[in-house]
Amino acid sequence: MERLFQIAIDGPAAAGKSTVAKIAAKKLGFIYIDTGAMYRSLTYKALKTGTDLLSGEALKALLDETEISLCHREDGQRVLVDGEDVTEQIRYPDVSSQVSLVSSYKEVRREMVRRQRILAGKRNVVMDGRDIGTHVLPNAQVKIFLKASVNERASRRFREEEQKGRHPSLESLKRAIALRDQKDTERKVSPLVKADDAVELDTTSLTVDGVVERILSIVKERRSR
Ligand code: DC
Repeated sequence: MERLFQIAIDGPAAAGKSTVAKIAAKKLGFIYIDTGAMYRSLTYKALKTGTDLLSGEALKALLDETEISLCHREDGQRVLVDGEDVTEQIRYPDVSSQVSLVSSYKEVRREMVRRQRILAGKRNVVMDGRDIGTHVLPNAQVKIFLKASVNERASRRFREEEQKGRHPSLESLKRAIALRDQKDTERKVSPLVKADDAVELDTTSLTVDGVVERILSIVKERRSR
C-alpha cells in the first residue's frame, strides 16, 4: 500500500498558515487539519465550564470527555465541540488569550497529539500548527515553516477582523500576537521551533498565491523522488 502523504505547516500566530494550508489541501485533494482549532476548542469548553486553567490534570480530564470534530464542508471547515458548532466562538479574544496556557500542559498535548496522529493516519493531509513537523508528524514528506513580521501579521489580522465587522486597535493586535509568540516559543513542552528539515518561507512580502505556489512546487518535487 502506498504511504500516505503528509504536509506539515508550522509557524507563529497569524503567519497565514491556515489560509495557505486550506488552499493547498484543496488543490491537492488532501484533507486539511487545523490543530490550533483543537486547542481552541478545549479552551472554549474550559472557559464555558469554569474549569481551572491552572490545572493540566483538570484540563486533561475535561478533554477526555470532549469530542472535537473538524468537519469538511463545501463552505469550509466547521469545528464542533460535543456536536455544537463553535467555529466562530473559538476565534473570540477570550479564547485567543488563554489558548497558549491551555496548550502548555503535557497531559493535554499528549492526548491532542494522539488524536492528531489518528486523523493523519486515514488520508493524505495538510496539517498546521506549532509542533507538527517537530513532533506530531516527524516523518512528514514536506515540512514548511511560515513566518512574517509582527507588523505584517497584526495588519492581516486587523483586515480579517474588519471584514467580520469588528474594530480592534492595531496596537492591541500587535501586543497580543507578540505575547502569544513569546508563550508558544518559551513553553517547556513542544515549543514552537522550526524542524531542522523544514523549508522556511518568510511571507511578509509574499501574496497568498505566491506562498501556495512555493508549497505546491516543493510537494511536486518531493512526490517525484
Ligand atoms: O494556530 P492557532 O493560532 O489557532 O493556535 C492557537 C494556539 O494553540 C497557539 O497559540 C498555540 C496552540 N497550538 C499548539 O500549541 N500546538 C499546535 N499544534 C497548534 C496550536
